Amino acid sequence: MDTVLSGIRSTGNLHLGNYFGAVKNFIKMQEENNCYFFIADYHSLTTYPTPEDLHNSVKSVLAEYLATGLDPNKSAIYVQSDIREIPELYLLLNMNAYVGELERTTSFKDKVRTQPNNVNAGLLTYPVLMAADILIHRSHKVPVGKDQEQNLEMARKFAKRFNHMYKVDYFPEPQPYNFGEDLVKVPGLDGSGKMGKTAGNGIYLIDDDKTIRKKVMRAVTDSGPTKPDSEVAEPIQNLFTLMSLVSETSTVDFFKEKYASCEIRYGDMKKQLAEDIIKFVTPIREKIIEIRNNNKYLRDVAELGAEKARQSASKTLKDVREIIGFRKF
Ligand code: TYM
Repeated sequence: MDTVLSGIRSTGNLHLGNYFGAVKNFIKMQEENNCYFFIADYHSLTTYPTPEDLHNSVKSVLAEYLATGLDPNKSAIYVQSDIREIPELYLLLNMNAYVGELERTTSFKDKVRTQPNNVNAGLLTYPVLMAADILIHRSHKVPVGKDQEQNLEMARKFAKRFNHMYKVDYFPEPQPYNFGEDLVKVPGLDGSGKMGKTAGNGIYLIDDDKTIRKKVMRAVTDSGPTKPDSEVAEPIQNLFTLMSLVSETSTVDFFKEKYASCEIRYGDMKKQLAEDIIKFVTPIREKIIEIRNNNKYLRDVAELGAEKARQSASKTLKDVREIIGFRKF
């Protein structure tokens, strides 16, 4: 049986990108694998949340995981900072991670450009902590969106390096996973790029109907096709991509035909898209609200998950310490 692991940073609520890029696969995978799904609260510290924000975000993501259908009896659902073995493995992996290779990762280079006043060491070693998350359970498959491809490549590199260095075959090489298909990139509503928490271009699972309508109606479009079968520009393609995630195929086809024949009215398309997103999000939102208010349930789930995760993590760390040479006299 494969061991599957994935996580989401606790820097806010889950959006449609998180859901269709990652969580949807978590739900499918928990039926047949040994699954670990966690909330990456250490990772969120690179952005300096206040203690209240940190706590509330962890709680929200946990409620959102549960509301989408993750089952604490099938998967280990836990909070990263509850597992003390992760930072220890992170320390050990850091010894074999080179500053040069970390500086060359795209996400680090992006941060250096976008937040030059806060280039902390946590950002530099972000992929090492992620590798520790993955390797602590000796995971085989990691369901993630397209943006995490490079981080997964780093995790494989650290796993291979450890095996090579100590002449063992201990860590499997973790593979990014999306049910045999390519990894997904869910676009945002601002015309280009991916839906993201920091970009402010996203629709959240907790958004109410009015908010969803407002956001979708404001989505970037263009002046419309001028000749039949013309190429679809990126902002419009993005709307079609979102539509293909939440709407019936016949609805997508209908608007594609209208586009091809230059009869499309973006207002109508957006109205339809908004209604289909609402239909998808509403039952999840209602569950989030219900679960978010049940503190005892959230505490029980986190405790159960931490217990399961600790069991596997302590076994790995014991082996790793032994392999490295931390041995009893
Ligand atoms: P995070 O919190 O940014 O995103 C969580 C998951 O959602 C996916 N995702 C998307 N997929 C498609 N389209 C989008 N627009 C989109 N936006 C987000 C991400 O690919 C990811 O799978 N570093 C990670 C969290 C993490 C982790 C790990 C993941 C920490 N340790 C170990 C896997 C394994 C992150 O910041 O994801």
